[in-house]
Amino acid sequence: MTVDLHNYVATVENFPEPGVDFRDLSPLMGDGVAYKQAVDEIADFAKDLAIDLIAGPESRGFIVGSPLAYALNVGFVPARKGGKLPREAVSASYTLEYGGENVLEIHKDAIKPGQRVLIVDDLLATGGTINATREIIEKLGGVVAGVAFIIELKALHGREKIMEAGDVPAMALMTY
Ligand code: PRP
Ligand code: ADE
Ligand code: MG
Repeated sequence: MTVDLHNYVATVENFPEPGVDFRDLSPLMGDGVAYKQAVDEIADFAKDLAIDLIAGPESRGFIVGSPLAYALNVGFVPARKGGKLPREAVSASYTLEYGGENVLEIHKDAIKPGQRVLIVDDLLATGGTINATREIIEKLGGVVAGVAFIIELKALHGREKIMEAGDVPAMALMTY
């Protein structure tokens, strides 16, 4: 039996600023059945991509990526917000749907040249977060084998932005 994941999304209008419909996935993550189903469905997408690693951007990407890495028996690489990593790191900057500029960083030794990496996050909006994560992975010589999300916000055209940086398999469990 499967559940309808849409029933586990709380939409909050005008948060964190006027005009934004915030899609809150806390109800999904807080429900054992819905959370496992979401992770399992992404794992199913990943199984033919010959993945070596999962990468997820801080912080909600960790909530999706860590159980997925465990399910697929691969490692997890955190793309952390600027200034958090203690050792040599590669960074990329990006802008958000709301709020200004941000930086993501990955430790230089986290990805070896040629390793195939699936990038996951809770939600795709403008694509800035994912393209910054991708830029770092590619600087390190990694291969982005695919991208996956629980939610994709179609009106913000993030998928097109990702494909402009190079065609990769992409999936979202729900679109709004
Ligand atoms: C949110 C969300 C995605 C990103 C999507 O993260 O979790 O990572 O925005 O937006 P984009 O496609 O326009 O880049 P946020 O930066 O708010 O931080 P959080 O994950 O730490 O909550
Ligand atoms: N991150 C960027 N845009 C978002 C939105 N509309 N809802 C939830 N998270 C987001
Ligand atoms: Mg995020």
